Amino acid sequence: TKVSLTGIKPTGEPHLGNLIGAIRPALELVDRFESIYFIADYHALTTERDPELLRHYSRSVAATWLAAGLDPSRTTFYRQSDVPEIFELMWVLSCVTGKGLMNRAHAYKAARDRNLEAGEDPDAGVNMGLFNYPVLMAVDILAMESDVVPVGKDQVQHVEYAADIAGSFNHAYGDTYSFTIPEAIVPEGTSAQTLPGLDGRKMSKSYDNTIPLFLPEAELKKLVRRIPTDSTPVSEPKDPDSSAVFQLLEQFAAPADAAETRKRLEEGGLGWGELKNQLFEALDEHLAPLRARYDELMEPGSELDTVLAEGAEKARQRAGRVLRRVRGAVGIAGSA
Ligand code: TYM
Repeated sequence: TKVSLTGIKPTGEPHLGNLIGAIRPALELVDRFESIYFIADYHALTTERDPELLRHYSRSVAATWLAAGLDPSRTTFYRQSDVPEIFELMWVLSCVTGKGLMNRAHAYKAARDRNLEAGEDPDAGVNMGLFNYPVLMAVDILAMESDVVPVGKDQVQHVEYAADIAGSFNHAYGDTYSFTIPEAIVPEGTSAQTLPGLDGRKMSKSYDNTIPLFLPEAELKKLVRRIPTDSTPVSEPKDPDSSAVFQLLEQFAAPADAAETRKRLEEGGLGWGELKNQLFEALDEHLAPLRARYDELMEPGSELDTVLAEGAEKARQRAGRVLRRVRGAVGIAGSA
């Protein structure tokens, strides 16, 4: 069976974009793939400086996966930091990765461009963790011999980099060991590939425009009211596809209801206020059961820790097998 793998970085409360772009599609693959899902906690260290918060967000991402339906008896589920083999492989793969490739990575380039625009040193505030980020992500993927990687659109370049890096390794050492070449799977439909946030841009922790998954109802309602809309009067026709409210609704309402709402918007007669009420209802209905489960899992002493410890064992065995073969292929002593 082929392997499906994906991870989420614990840099903030998990949000609707994570659920729609990654968690839901990943869980749909469990029947057809061997599934391996994890919490990319060391990736979060490139930006998170508060140890308590990092611990909290790591638990929170883990609880979210389980609340959303991940079954640890069918999926290998672990924290990246519990698998030291990944960090040894990170060095080996760094040595076959061109620096030029990393110079072109979106996140690093965006930081440089921001600095240049502000007239600062282009590398101001850029740490080596941010620069090496795509190599670590490549290792996450390659160490588990992943075939497919379900992600939102913003992560596709990273998966292509992993394929590139695997290619470089295979070119040099393919006679003795070859990495599996991974491929990204993105959900269908633009609103799922890039779910809009509160300001209409991509929902992202770095834009501070997210709708967290597990808010108390009153706060969820408040956030939904904040999503910007234009001033088209209730009676006038509206374009569903340029409305963040509708794009969000499309992902959470039953398809027949969303189709009906699309028609009413296009015909005119449905106002933004009513549309927002519909969105709040759909979100709340969808998320309320998950929220209850999430709250239980976040209690100290819940099964979260045992689940992650068992997952780490399985993940280490897998990565250890790959690491031994890689050490052998590159000529590191004691590898056999
Ligand atoms: P992260 O933590 O930023 O996001 C986790 C997943 O959620 C998806 N996503 C979205 N999808 C649709 N619309 C949105 N607005 C939206 N926002 C986030 C992301 O595309 C992602 O799939 N580098 C990764 C974590 C990572 C990883 C890996 C992923 C580390 N190693 C190995 C896959 C395989 C990241 O920062 O995702």
